[in-house]
Amino acid sequence: MAMAVISSCSREAKVAPSIPQDSDVEAKVESVLKRMSLKEKAGQMVQLSIVTLEDGTREAIDPAKLDRIIGEYKVGSILNVMHDMAHSREHTANMVRQIQEKSMEVLGIPCIYGLDMIHGASYLTDGSFYPQEINLGATFNREYARMMGEAMAYETRAAQVPWVFSPVMDLGRDPRWPRQWESWGEDPYLQSEMSRTETVAIQGDDPNHIDLEHAAVSIKHYMGYGVPASGKDRTPAYIALNDLREKYFRPFKECFQAGALTTMVNSASINGVPTHANRTLLTGWIKDELNWDGMIVTDWADIDNLFTRDHVAADKREAVALGINAGIDMIMDPYDPECVNVIVDLAESGEIPMSRIDDAVRRILRLKVRLGLFDNPTWEYDYKDFGCERFAKESYDAALESEVLLKNEGGLLPLKGTERILVTGPNANSLRTLNGGWSYTWQGSADDFAPQYNTILEALQNRFPNVKYVPGVVYNGEWGQWQKDEAVGIAQAVAAARASDVVIACVGENSYCETPGNMDDLNLSANQKDLVKALAATGKPVILVLNEGRPRIIGDIEPLVKAVVDVMLPSNYGGDALAALISGDENFSGKLPFTYSKHINALHTYDYKVSEHREMMEGSYNYDAVMDVQWPFGHGLSYTEFKYSDLSLDSPAEFKAGDVLKLSVKVTNTGSRAGKEAVLLYSSDLVASLIPDVKRLRGFEKISIEPGESKVVEFEVPAEELAFVGADGKWRLEKGDFRLSCGGLGVMAKCTETKVWETPNI
Ligand code: BGC
Repeated sequence: MAMAVISSCSREAKVAPSIPQDSDVEAKVESVLKRMSLKEKAGQMVQLSIVTLEDGTREAIDPAKLDRIIGEYKVGSILNVMHDMAHSREHTANMVRQIQEKSMEVLGIPCIYGLDMIHGASYLTDGSFYPQEINLGATFNREYARMMGEAMAYETRAAQVPWVFSPVMDLGRDPRWPRQWESWGEDPYLQSEMSRTETVAIQGDDPNHIDLEHAAVSIKHYMGYGVPASGKDRTPAYIALNDLREKYFRPFKECFQAGALTTMVNSASINGVPTHANRTLLTGWIKDELNWDGMIVTDWADIDNLFTRDHVAADKREAVALGINAGIDMIMDPYDPECVNVIVDLAESGEIPMSRIDDAVRRILRLKVRLGLFDNPTWEYDYKDFGCERFAKESYDAALESEVLLKNEGGLLPLKGTERILVTGPNANSLRTLNGGWSYTWQGSADDFAPQYNTILEALQNRFPNVKYVPGVVYNGEWGQWQKDEAVGIAQAVAAARASDVVIACVGENSYCETPGNMDDLNLSANQKDLVKALAATGKPVILVLNEGRPRIIGDIEPLVKAVVDVMLPSNYGGDALAALISGDENFSGKLPFTYSKHINALHTYDYKVSEHREMMEGSYNYDAVMDVQWPFGHGLSYTEFKYSDLSLDSPAEFKAGDVLKLSVKVTNTGSRAGKEAVLLYSSDLVASLIPDVKRLRGFEKISIEPGESKVVEFEVPAEELAFVGADGKWRLEKGDFRLSCGGLGVMAKCTETKVWETPNI
């Protein structure tokens, strides 16, 4: 955690580079840079959508457009997919090869192609998909972040694409925001661990030499994107500076220091400053403070947003200058190659210093060299594992570990198998809803592209002999009105329920992505609630299956149902996993990576301030504010029981900065079946100079335990992990008592010395 300070006596003092420099890489960058014209440099700094190269069929490249975009404008990067839809690996590879040949012919510099691979090979028809990040967060198992990262990089490379816009690591702390599911959940530590693991899995161990099975990441969206005050996508956030550094920056910092080669910027603004124009955050916090020599790319048309939306620039020229001078290296200006000429003009007039242009171009060239694109602009390689069984099995296993059993009254689950089962609800027979957005298309279209996989209904039919299906409610909205649903026969569903022994009601959300996912009411839709209420009124036991990208409020219907499973967005094997879990063939082990709120005016995260809620602290002033959530962060049931004992501090109970706290806890499977358990370790700072968070996650391990077996889990927590950022923006570890807790047990430790760091990062 501590960062080596090379020198601390001048303002230019540099910490050790986040990515070690490689002299061969640097020599190559310099040799290319010195022969480039200004126009060529400006071209490198612009990224266009593949749409600008499409021919009339929208399936292939128009050679005249290629001449214009690469030949005349000298554009250095292309992104996205034609027709907003996935293509086969071969089709994608052929298209990229054409672009590369042109780029090498006219510029002698390879183009870099980037794709939104969000949960596997999101934009390949024949690749592999894993559950979305929110599900992998629920596994509390770093291995799945590794597996998904490795498969994603491998399959993307197989399509001749060396750059993925992943992992998404916005803290998903507000379910009103439509992209919560793209992240690993609400907690900074979980986010850091999973993102760093995936970053290394995607890139491999050596960021200076990415091989043909790995790709560059673009960690996104730097930063604070997930907590817009309005809840709506791409709108302003207001974040206290200490929180910004302590919670939002931390996952990014971990990834930069693990070698992340690029980052994409938060489309919106923080405290009134659009992030794309925030020199402090872009140049200051990343490039200077971390001595990071990677590349910063904008999000979609966000330089335009500086004048069209945010009004911090009068026109395009001003916006481009503002962004590049703030630290942007590459502008994703999807449809406008003229941006190249704007950059040229601004450089010629001196409004962007040539030193800044050269710095940006160096960063872009360095990325291309590190990816080996100069030596291999295209490549021949036997990707024999593409779309393999192993990836499919990993996806299934991840789905199994991610679906969360939230309620199981009277042990209704697992089912015996002989019941007459009614399956109902708008999410029962949809692959689209199981996958969510970024699945074959931007908004998600798995039903059109992946009919070979099983919906929940199909998987249940395969597993149980007696399954009847009546939808009751269906989604029927036009483009962008995805959540609109219609009751198409609640009465028929009720009649079928009466003739059944148990009802599985599959409700939640239709898939969406970004702004089309905005909504005004986080409650589950009225039609879906009506369906559940009517089913429950029959007296038949109802199992509620939630298939949704964020916790939709169900406070009024939850008491009516006997069991609840939140499958979130488990992808193509999510239906099969659910059938295996509710039949008892497999055991549940997922835990919520977010707080499931109960009331619309009381949206919480688990790390609230001690003074916010009555439950935690005697004497809290706000005595009306009871922490009343549907299910807390970390909640998740199993068919077996785990007993925690012997939580002990195995290092001295007194500590100071530089020490490592060692803890262990015994977990025993006291039930009658094997199970997996995510063991979560928290800390609470009992008194601090800023109101402390009630608790913070400091460690997690996923273990498998046989019935009757005990396992000891060990944690090591560097004392610095218990520091917080004070009001002055400085990290502080303060003298006083800390409580470490795990599985309902607690142990005390005392910090004996206050330390305040003068470096911005520790
Ligand atoms: C999204 C990004 C994505 C980019 C390129 C934007 O609209 O915010 O997450 O990487 O488009 O597709």
